[in-house]
Amino acid sequence: MNFEFTEEQLMIRQAARDFAQRELINDVIERDYKAKFPANHVKTMSELGFMGMMIDPKYDGGGMDTVSYVLAMEEISKIDSSVSVIMSVNNSLVCYTIERFGTEEQKEKYLKPLARGDKIGAFLLSEPESGSDATMQRIIAEDKGDFYLVNGIKNWITSANSGSIYILFAQTHPKKKHRGINAFIVEKDTPGISLGPHEDKMGMRSSDTHSVMFTDVKVPKENRLGEDGLGFKIAMKALEAGRLGIAAQALGIAAGALERSIQYSKERKAFGTEIANHQAIAFKIADMAVKVENARNLCLKAAWLKDNKKPFALASSMAKLYAADIAMEVTTEAVQIHGGYGYVKEYHVERLMREAKLTQIYEGTSEIQKIVISRVLLKD
Ligand code: CAA
Repeated sequence: MNFEFTEEQLMIRQAARDFAQRELINDVIERDYKAKFPANHVKTMSELGFMGMMIDPKYDGGGMDTVSYVLAMEEISKIDSSVSVIMSVNNSLVCYTIERFGTEEQKEKYLKPLARGDKIGAFLLSEPESGSDATMQRIIAEDKGDFYLVNGIKNWITSANSGSIYILFAQTHPKKKHRGINAFIVEKDTPGISLGPHEDKMGMRSSDTHSVMFTDVKVPKENRLGEDGLGFKIAMKALEAGRLGIAAQALGIAAGALERSIQYSKERKAFGTEIANHQAIAFKIADMAVKVENARNLCLKAAWLKDNKKPFALASSMAKLYAADIAMEVTTEAVQIHGGYGYVKEYHVERLMREAKLTQIYEGTSEIQKIVISRVLLKD
């Protein structure tokens, strides 16, 4: 077993750390407050090759491994998860899905600009009445011969406005239930698509989240991904990869809160000494560090499995469940260690706590991860 990173992995981690600590940090509080989209930072991520990190260079991707992706996601999420969620959705849910299930024509037309970061992708699975219960798709894609006619609504869509290429899931054969669902690549500017208002979120406020309405939207037949009826399996495969991205995001949030707590506790004095010298604080730091290290190991194990072409769905769900839950615990402790300062924006930890909450909800709640994990373990 080799726990050492390669030179290339270390370089990628350093590049992500520099980007986060030198650039994102400058306006993260203001963007969060104003819910302002980080267009300039997405451009920098494109230049760094972070928008299509694991995509084959022949499709203009970075050709990097999943371990590098986890390292970069952790560093960026220590500072700003609004930015890392845009990166994660583009990499894991959109680029990965097109590379894996798309035709050569689809890869040429859609994957290349997404992998370069010239265009941003969004993943349209959730609906107003179908979040966790993703088999119950109500949006309809009627087969009209040369095209599909789409009518319905999607909810909670990350990058719905900033993105211009959608992966859409819709029901074509309702009687077949989830086996009738299809996946499509849809251009956002197709007539009949409109957006709901910008969601005023608790955290990750600077990424844009909207509902998306489809009214008689014509999607060309050649934009379907995979065989007729393969859509639900495609969604599940995409989420296996996506959950690892969010696990790494949760890890980064927790690691960022830990770093800030260590720094603060060595500076802040109470009862005649730095608070780090009080066991009440030192023991909290120790507990937080063990949780962060466990989350990191779970993320890296899942990434290693994926890089070595081994099944990684179980590891990915374990990593997401654990990392998201400890991110909530660690950030809550970080606020406690910071006391009153932890409750104001300037010290960042209250924002990290708000961001941590979302990692327990999106790309499958913690409860959904337990369903996925227990089913694998308990099946005959
Ligand atoms: N790979 C391939 N196929 C899979 C699979 C996988 N990992 N997991 C399930 N399937 C298949 C099953 O084999 C089954 O197929 P057959 O019936 O043809 O054999 C089919 O999918 C249905 O599976 P289940 O019977 O297990 O369905 P279920 O309803 O009991 O459970 C679920 C499914 C796991 C709960 C699923 O609905 C799920 O993951 N829900 C959560 C959805 C989710 O994560 N949403 C996040 C939205 S995306 C987002 O947040 C993006 C963003 O913007 C940040």
